[in-house]
Amino acid sequence: MIRVVVAGAAGRMGQTVCSAVEDAEDMELAGRADPLLGVELEQLLGGADVVVDFTQPDSALGNALACVREGVHAVIGTTGFDHEPLARAVTAAHEGANGLRTANVLIAPNFAIGAVLMMRFAQEAVRYMPRAEIIELHHDAKLDAPSGTAALTAELMAAASGGPAPTIHSVRLPGLVAHQEVILGDLGQTLTIRHDTISRESFMPGVLLAVRQVGTLPEPLVVGLERLLA
Ligand SMILES: NC(=O)c1ccc[n+]([C@@H]2O[C@H](COP(=O)([O-])OP(=O)(O)OC[C@H]3O[C@@H](n4cnc5c(N)ncnc54)[C@H](O)[C@@H]3O)[C@@H](O)[C@H]2O)c1
Repeated sequence: MIRVVVAGAAGRMGQTVCSAVEDAEDMELAGRADPLLGVELEQLLGGADVVVDFTQPDSALGNALACVREGVHAVIGTTGFDHEPLARAVTAAHEGANGLRTANVLIAPNFAIGAVLMMRFAQEAVRYMPRAEIIELHHDAKLDAPSGTAALTAELMAAASGGPAPTIHSVRLPGLVAHQEVILGDLGQTLTIRHDTISRESFMPGVLLAVRQVGTLPEPLVVGLERLLA
């Protein structure tokens, strides 16, 4: 059984992750951390194999560094924070491990398979249609803009085309969940690649896959669910 602690357990994503972990036969929900529940993540790390973090941009880095210090693997869905200090900490921990247990980290701005495919198709298309822009649309409680998915899509498209990253437009409105359009334009034609998240359950197969695989990543820190699907 994989012992899973969920950080951000009282939040929209965290509650959905807790239910998915409870329903998974090979996992045990070892704890729910959230200031709204009065439980600090540090209190629970001793009983965790994997922490799943869906918190806030200003909390995710501290939580992940605590996991690395304690040798607990981390699956991070929180978006809008700088990955660089975490990458340095993970590398340092692995270099100085001396046979001690070390933590791996998987960061995925989007755990929905459809969004991963959208990013893959956008990378393919931009090689032939280099003029592109991204519109990302989310519910009005989302704290960061642009979304992590849009930022990663733009980065991957720039790498694929060798050109500049596409401009990103962010929409925040009630009634939305998580949606993204990549629009490519050329003489007399456009191509639109669109993904819609209708419910948060769409992320759960990807989250559970990440929990199962985070202990055996090809590198200590991996960004993007697509790296697990190859
Ligand atoms: N990767 C993906 O597929 C994906 C999908 C949806 C949302 N997200 C991201 O997940 C994050 C959470 O989204 P949400 O809609 O659930 O937000 P939310 O505001 O509903 O929930 C966040 C929760 O984190 C808690 N929290 C804050 N600091 C904490 C800490 N230090 N330790 C533990 N818990 C803490 C808050 O109290 C809150 O309950 C956002 O960054 C969002 O962009 C990612």
